[in-house]
Amino acid sequence: MLSKEMEKEINIQINKELYSAYLYMAMAAYFDNKNLSGFANFFQVQAQEEVFHAQKFYHYLFERGGRVVLEAIEKPQTDFKDVKAVFQQAYEHEQYVTSRINTLMNLAIKESDHASKAFLDWFISEQVEEEASMDSILQKIDLVGATGHGILMLDAQLGQRTYTPPASQE
Ligand code: FEO
Repeated sequence: MLSKEMEKEINIQINKELYSAYLYMAMAAYFDNKNLSGFANFFQVQAQEEVFHAQKFYHYLFERGGRVVLEAIEKPQTDFKDVKAVFQQAYEHEQYVTSRINTLMNLAIKESDHASKAFLDWFISEQVEEEASMDSILQKIDLVGATGHGILMLDAQLGQRTYTPPASQE
């Protein structure tokens, strides 16, 4: 059985992950409106990953005898300065999510909740990838510049991204 505090924090995290999906869908919509379908595809796939993260927390909470309580999802920003600003914001958002995962892990350690520690290990590694992915695209945008041919090449590259079904992610 989970502590009440851990139950509360996991419910908050479900909301944060669903907000992440919503934010990335808003970013996808921004790019679709600009006919940059590759960037839009990248964020649609990212949104699917975030829903998977939320579901992973949801199932874990049930498994441990907790109660899932869904709260309202905050409205995401819908307009952005330019391509670089989107990725800068996505990168900063992933850093925030990492800080949330660290908060959960710190709580699990404080409570000697070994099952939660083992569960959260997956997210600790996942966040390394999440931050690296946004940072690497940000660096490429810096290389090619925020407008022009380079951006179209990057758009074509990001259009190749596909969602990996959750079963093979674990
Ligand atoms: Fe669920 Fe992108 O962290």
